[in-house]
Amino acid sequence: MESIQAIKQRFGIIGNDPKLNRSIEKAIQVSPTDISVLVTGESGVGKESIPKIIHQLSHRKHGKYIAVNCGAIPEGTIDSELFGHEKGAFTGATSTRSGYFEVADGGTIFLDEVGELPLTTQVRLLRVLENGEFIKVGSSKVQKTDVRIVAATNVNMFEAIKKEKFREDLYYRLSTVEINLPPLRERKDDIHLLFRKFASDFALKYKMPTVKLSDDAINLLVKYRWNGNIRQLRNVAEQVSVLEQNRTINGATIQNYLPTTGSNLPAVVNNSKSESDFSSEREILYKVLFDMKSDLNDLKKLTMELMKKGSDADVQKDNEHLIQKIYGDDKDEEFEAAVEDLEVLSLAEHTDIDENAISETEDKYHFAEEIEEEETLSLHDKELELIKKSLERHSGKRKLAAAELGISERTLYRKIKQFDL
Ligand SMILES: Nc1ncnc2c1ncn2[C@@H]1O[C@H](COP(=O)(O)OP(=O)(O)OP(=O)(O)O)[C@@H](O)[C@H]1O
Ligand SMILES: [Mg+2]
Repeated sequence: MESIQAIKQRFGIIGNDPKLNRSIEKAIQVSPTDISVLVTGESGVGKESIPKIIHQLSHRKHGKYIAVNCGAIPEGTIDSELFGHEKGAFTGATSTRSGYFEVADGGTIFLDEVGELPLTTQVRLLRVLENGEFIKVGSSKVQKTDVRIVAATNVNMFEAIKKEKFREDLYYRLSTVEINLPPLRERKDDIHLLFRKFASDFALKYKMPTVKLSDDAINLLVKYRWNGNIRQLRNVAEQVSVLEQNRTINGATIQNYLPTTGSNLPAVVNNSKSESDFSSEREILYKVLFDMKSDLNDLKKLTMELMKKGSDADVQKDNEHLIQKIYGDDKDEEFEAAVEDLEVLSLAEHTDIDENAISETEDKYHFAEEIEEEETLSLHDKELELIKKSLERHSGKRKLAAAELGISERTLYRKIKQFDL
């Protein structure tokens, strides 16, 4: 049997956390059997590699592996997608079609987001699980198939059962073995490891030197909540790799990439609602903040590009004008509106919300504004800093520094004089 280490390497899984290892070990153990497996864990924890491991290590590995995202297929067509249909079964069914369960005969089907399956489809699925039988839509002929099913979900299945959105019998049938993947915040020792791996991947991809983290930056990453788990960490590593000129990232810099409101709110809210109602709201808040953060980063990037391009005095003036426009009054209104929206959203749903939570949310936005204003005021400083650093890096060789900065040697010469470097 392949060792856990070898499996991790083969499937690109990074980390040494004991809980992660246990989950991979479980996948290896169940792979030679036909037992149904349910993979659980928060969004972005890496659930998708488990069914691949199971399939590849099983006797079905030469058979088909089909991954179906149950949440992405419209309710009206999902039965036909999974089980096929007969000609004339519905308008538009011009010919007989095989479904995934027929095509994957002898292989494995991965049912991702299985909690999203409509109840009628759940009945059909239960039947396949019980005796391998299914019937095409619009047919009366019972067909047989031999498919191994691995399902995954990031929702609380017990909640779904309680709300009668998911059949209890199907749940037990699917989860003969459950493999749970731990959230990133419970795998603290893996955080820096993962970041380093992603940073080096992105350095290669974007042909830039690899970013490195200072100790305080590592500390912040380790303490962070990571609601989006490894997917979020990967995004942060990508943004930092692309946007930061200085390749050593300190705590203050990395903080800009870690939205905090989404993860702070749950702790201060005295909520009387169910956890799942609340988590979807948290998700929305989190997404709003995340989007705003990326807008902010885009603006920063644009500023940098404009500065780089500004190779003569007139263009530079134009650019400064443009930057002023970007950071001008319009933006303030937008931010205020967003803050208002967030407050309304929170207050409407939680009348007993902690006042501190709201002011904290607001502070975050104002904080973001302050950063932008500072950024505008210190454009000259930034320019100066960039030129200095580039000259240092190239031991004072103007030609190389100018090439790196994307300006002409003449302009660089002028700037050196202007800044008295
Ligand atoms: N241990 C890991 N090592 C390296 N990359 C990982 C690891 N775990 C997850 N990833 C990467 O993180 C991203 C998210 O993983 P994945 O798509 O499997 O999440 P998920 O659990 O299916 O989330 P969701 O429930 O939102 O679908 C992917 O790009 C995946 O390659
Ligand atoms: Mg997934």
